[in-house]
Amino acid sequence: MKPVKVGICGLGTVGSGTFNVLQRNGEEIARRLGRELVIEQVGARRDNPACNLSDTSITRDIFEVAKNPAVDIVVELIGGYDTAKELVLTAIQHGKHVVTANKALIAEHGNEIFAAAAEKGVIVAYEAAVAGGIPVIKAIREGLAANRINTIAGIINGTGNFILTAMAKEKREFADVLAEAQALGYAEADPTFDVEGIDAAHKLTILASIAFGVPLQFKSAYTEGISQITPEDLAHAKELGYQIKHLGIARRKPGGIELRVHPTLIPDTKLIAKVDGVMNAVMVDADAVGPTMYYGPGAGAEPTASAVIADIVDVARSIDSVSSVVAPLAFHSEAIDDTKIL
Ligand code: HSE
Repeated sequence: MKPVKVGICGLGTVGSGTFNVLQRNGEEIARRLGRELVIEQVGARRDNPACNLSDTSITRDIFEVAKNPAVDIVVELIGGYDTAKELVLTAIQHGKHVVTANKALIAEHGNEIFAAAAEKGVIVAYEAAVAGGIPVIKAIREGLAANRINTIAGIINGTGNFILTAMAKEKREFADVLAEAQALGYAEADPTFDVEGIDAAHKLTILASIAFGVPLQFKSAYTEGISQITPEDLAHAKELGYQIKHLGIARRKPGGIELRVHPTLIPDTKLIAKVDGVMNAVMVDADAVGPTMYYGPGAGAEPTASAVIADIVDVARSIDSVSSVVAPLAFHSEAIDDTKIL
């Protein structure tokens, strides 16, 4: 079979991680996929010294990638809203499948993007948008497909958990730990998204849409961050046998779905209280299987690249294969009561 050609837009933390993992593990990925994955073109404002671009076609114009007739899959890793949205819609209009790690884009403009993709018959995949390297979207959409899901609760922002853990266990200052999270490439370009819970609310919105089959409704989520948590709060909680964790919770309630993001006291004995540093954990409670939990790195270049490439492989499998075309995102049209976010 002929190779599948990928165009990567953005060479920041996740873009460079994706480029490097694809280069390093290309042969193994090709064996798994049964065909080669080729990086046809990279679009980035500047080169990244972490990437060996000597054999790669690179352009400063990301829209060139979205329109490139040779590219099958456009990988949007520039982040942000407006340009990313225009880029994704341009790629869709040009008949490209899209893989993105952009939770803000999906949570706030996903309904429009999915409608455009459905019209064009292309796939938009976004596993990397939630919980970094943990394949939690796949777990909910595919692994739990038999279930009625009741609750999702989890630590879904790596930066926030990294900060709370270092403040609680190493008695470090909030600002100092945040600076380290930024240096490690965990934090958002605007770190208020991490510390004020906006990033977690984006991810919760996405998880809820998949788990409960409701349209994306970011504006309905209650959002509270961790910027007001003090070392004293963490110490008092510890004395009483609790950890303070920043949770995203989506719950089926009579008449609708409740979405909330806020700091929560968790007894030390619970598994989620032991999730430290940049790690994320998502608990899903569903009727047939009962409680399940998914754990792994929630941010960082290569963990996130792992999820981006999993999507690329999934989409690549559907190309030229009539039997395995994946619909973008199907909502339950009949579940009217459940579509209301409380
Ligand atoms: N800033 C995000 C986090 C990156 O810390 O979780 C991964 O989505």
